[in-house]
Amino acid sequence: MILAPSLLSADFGNLKKDIELINESEADWFHIDVMDGVFVPNISFGQPVIKCIKKFAKKPLDVHLMIVDPDRYFEDFQKVGADIITVHYEACNHLNRSLSSIKSLGMKAGVVLNPHTPVNALEDIIQECDLVLLMSVNPGFGGQSFIDNTYSKIRQLKELIIRKSPNCLIEIDGGVSLQNFKKLIDSGADCLVAGNAIFASENPIKTIKEFKS
Ligand code: DX5
Ligand code: ZN
Repeated sequence: MILAPSLLSADFGNLKKDIELINESEADWFHIDVMDGVFVPNISFGQPVIKCIKKFAKKPLDVHLMIVDPDRYFEDFQKVGADIITVHYEACNHLNRSLSSIKSLGMKAGVVLNPHTPVNALEDIIQECDLVLLMSVNPGFGGQSFIDNTYSKIRQLKELIIRKSPNCLIEIDGGVSLQNFKKLIDSGADCLVAGNAIFASENPIKTIKEFKS
């Protein structure tokens, strides 16, 4: 299981400390949430901050773009150190082209589905995906509660992946906790994003260890 702590819940006043914490932990990727205040009702941070994160991060940067017209920025994000880019199905008119552009820049490419978007929307694009991220909350904020319908979406997605794109990973984002992560893995998830569950816990290193055990 791949664990990707979300820096959205980190201490922005002391980001280096939290990056080093993740470096020293058993976590696998850094999950980086980019929000534009248009696609989602919140603004987070952009390329200059990611460039600073990259200076200290010793693990891959998994960049989740919650922005309209993401294609305009693929090259910028590649330059500041993104290793994986995921774009929203709901934000792309030409998803096939978007995924090709990301991959042609040497990064892994994935599609994100909002809670209301059905898995079968991926039927004709799954072959191009290195990963699919299922949102298990409405995107925009950390610390929200998990939407239970996600379990059945994971199982449907797993079935599609086995049928058409066996190397594609399933990533889950939103409301992931020590209470639900086992059920998520059992349902077919390969990769879990966790923000609040890690950074709001008393001992993040220990929490990460518990996720990974
Ligand atoms: C929400 C973001 C998530 C968020 C998850 O829009 O995509 O990555 O940081 O936070 P938690 O784990 O607190 O729900
Ligand atoms: Zn995210």
